[in-house]
Amino acid sequence: MPEDRKLEIEQYNSLSRLDAQHHLHPNTNPIQVAENGAMIVTSGEGIRVRDEDGKSYIEGLAGLWCASLGFSEERLVEAAERQLRELPYYHSFFGRAPVPTAKLAEFLSRITPNSLTKFFFACSGSEAIDSAIKMVWYYNNAIGRPQKKKIISRLNSYHGVTVAGASMTRIRINQEGFDLPIERFVQVDCPHYYRFAMDGEAEEEFSARMADRLEQTILEEGPDTIAAFFAEPIQGAGGIILPSKGYFDLIQPILKKYDILFVVDEVICGFGRTGEMFGSETYNLRPDLMTMAKGLSAGYQPISAVGLSEEVYRGIASLGGEKGAFGHGFTYGGHPVAAAVALETQKIYQERKIVSYVQTISPKFQGRLRALQEHPLGGEARGVGLIGALELVANKATKERFDPSLGVGVKVFEEAKRNGLLFRNAGDQLLFCPPLIITEDEIDEMFDILGNALDTVAGRL
Ligand SMILES: Cc1ncc(COP(=O)(O)O)c(C=O)c1O
Repeated sequence: MPEDRKLEIEQYNSLSRLDAQHHLHPNTNPIQVAENGAMIVTSGEGIRVRDEDGKSYIEGLAGLWCASLGFSEERLVEAAERQLRELPYYHSFFGRAPVPTAKLAEFLSRITPNSLTKFFFACSGSEAIDSAIKMVWYYNNAIGRPQKKKIISRLNSYHGVTVAGASMTRIRINQEGFDLPIERFVQVDCPHYYRFAMDGEAEEEFSARMADRLEQTILEEGPDTIAAFFAEPIQGAGGIILPSKGYFDLIQPILKKYDILFVVDEVICGFGRTGEMFGSETYNLRPDLMTMAKGLSAGYQPISAVGLSEEVYRGIASLGGEKGAFGHGFTYGGHPVAAAVALETQKIYQERKIVSYVQTISPKFQGRLRALQEHPLGGEARGVGLIGALELVANKATKERFDPSLGVGVKVFEEAKRNGLLFRNAGDQLLFCPPLIITEDEIDEMFDILGNALDTVAGRL
């Protein structure tokens, strides 16, 4: 590199433009970011982050649903440093394992639903999802069901962006243009009562209709061809959609009836978010496999896990034994630094009784959120624990949406951001998932900013 070019970079006092020239951003409008520059984030403290101009923001989405202990937990820094000195890298191939990774597997066996006994590690939610899909296929081959391979997921589900994960993710921008979904992936309905109920349909009736339609789909596809049903306890990126009343109670027996594995994607819901350790507890789910990430390490290190039932594990182990190895795994899966940080995160959750804390603080969060349903722009406010959404509508009575070209959601976001609050707007759905350490005062501050932003935007419409 020419010396003068190097100097130019060192002297660049705004990274925003430089970034826009050279960085292809995930889940971003490439044209807009190239024109406007990126928001460069420089530091964090508590539930707040700071940009390169020194402006501070409440992180209402905990980054990407993951920084559950905020952005300045010193103990996690120390745990990473200790592990970096002790053993900075090792893998889990060929029957080896770093110390924290072995401990983490054992720890997860104690806190996850009883049905799970074995744990596999990867580096991201998407890798965990892809691994779970491959495990389902491998298991069915192991037990002599080579035809039973199709995977069912639901409209508005988000299961990551790898080729298989994005084939299950049923969000338009994650599939269109990518030639997805690939074969074997089947979609069923989204159990969002507010949006999809028929006129006069009670919530329980709606759930029964959702369950009937699932069963119809299974029968149409052929039960012997369906391997697994993947579901998030609460559909996160698709709009923080809570399952309708009784939905999972009706779904689970149908899966059992047709011998379909239930894979619960706890990537967002896991580790206290819903006011229980797992969304599976909130909704009484009995997973055959479970994917975890994000809150596992509070986002401080990239690590994810797949939990397997003993039965699924035994099938996989027998075929792996026969073939000479279970031929799947990642160089950095169960990385010792990530595992050490995850273990420390879990220790902090226990010491600070994070689940009880979420139970204590969440009525405040849910109360302030639900009050916004009365706002002139408010359609449905929904949530549980410390996760929730406000859906904006043009007409409360008919639930009519705003014309997307008005960009109402993004205008509210921009106004809130100007006043120091970040969250996520998925169209006109405003999504919140703050760090679990948020205080009552900070909840008030967050919703005060949001309320003012809604007023300002409503006044301009
Ligand atoms: C439920 C769920 N599953 C899977 C993923 C994919 O995780 P990652 O972005 O770490 O690949 C996400 C990410 O938000 C998620 O919310």
